Amino acid sequence: MSNEAEVEAVVTAVKQSTKYGDTSEATIRELAAEAVRQHKKSKPAIKAVRARLHSIMAPYLGDPDYPAAAARLDAAFAAHDNAAIEAICHDCLHAHLSTRERLPILAEFYERIFAITGRPQSILDIACGLNPLALRWMGLEAVSDGRSVRGQLAVSSEWGAVPDLKFYAYDIHEPRIAFINHYFRLEGLPELAKVQDVAMDFPQEAADVALFLKEMPRFERNYGGRGRPLLEALRANFLVISYPTISTHGGRNLTNRYREFMFQLIQGHDWPVTELLFDGELVFVIDKR
Ligand SMILES: C[S@@+](CC[C@H](N)C(=O)[O-])C[C@H]1O[C@@H](n2cnc3c(N)ncnc32)[C@H](O)[C@@H]1O
Repeated sequence: MSNEAEVEAVVTAVKQSTKYGDTSEATIRELAAEAVRQHKKSKPAIKAVRARLHSIMAPYLGDPDYPAAAARLDAAFAAHDNAAIEAICHDCLHAHLSTRERLPILAEFYERIFAITGRPQSILDIACGLNPLALRWMGLEAVSDGRSVRGQLAVSSEWGAVPDLKFYAYDIHEPRIAFINHYFRLEGLPELAKVQDVAMDFPQEAADVALFLKEMPRFERNYGGRGRPLLEALRANFLVISYPTISTHGGRNLTNRYREFMFQLIQGHDWPVTELLFDGELVFVIDKR
């Protein structure tokens, strides 16, 4: 078999697997090319790609049932039922560990971050997971009479009026991105979620704020050394980088370790940094202007 044919065979095998078939083909192809260089036979090459994907995709963090959640959202939006819409978004956020851990601090989280950055009109949500479903807790909705319409009985048509918000979201999990675009469409937002491997293709869109939440340690481990060039390349006024304060498995406190890790990553740049410590999440707001 030629090298190209071997890569193709590995890509096909992984794409057909139940566990990793939902991953971006570009990501699988890149990993397959690397695995084929290291392994002579396709079986160990497939195994190597699956092992890398386990670490990159972290499927153990959880997913909602996307078709069922989309159908529930369709019905709630059709009925203009804001309580139901928010309950479904909440359920989706709860289905994935990263967003589940953020639920108790959600409103305070974005309030404190956007108090530093200003209310963004454009966002890059990098390695987004399900975080875009937190849109209704970001305080970005239309303002009427100087007051946010949230908290009052806002109807979904008012949500469509989020003024000119451009919400770009990037992930390599295809059904997740399709679901986020489905949700954006229902909210009246442009469908700016993309299946894009941000380790291979740094996002090019310009924005007020770039979020890179709870993924940097894994990103550095999976793509050794691409974290710093990614942060340098991002065309955003503010970078918001976060870390879990407690380890997923061991319950160890990681605050000091990740604080040090963050400052090493941006060493040599004179970017002003504000640290925000939440219950469960350590956030750095970096001013790149
Ligand atoms: C731990 S979750 C974090 C989710 C979200 N940022 C949050 O904190 O709620 C990591 C996400 O990054 C995505 N991911 C991992 N590597 C990626 C890459 N190279 N490009 C784009 N997305 C990636 C995974 O598919 C997963 O959805």
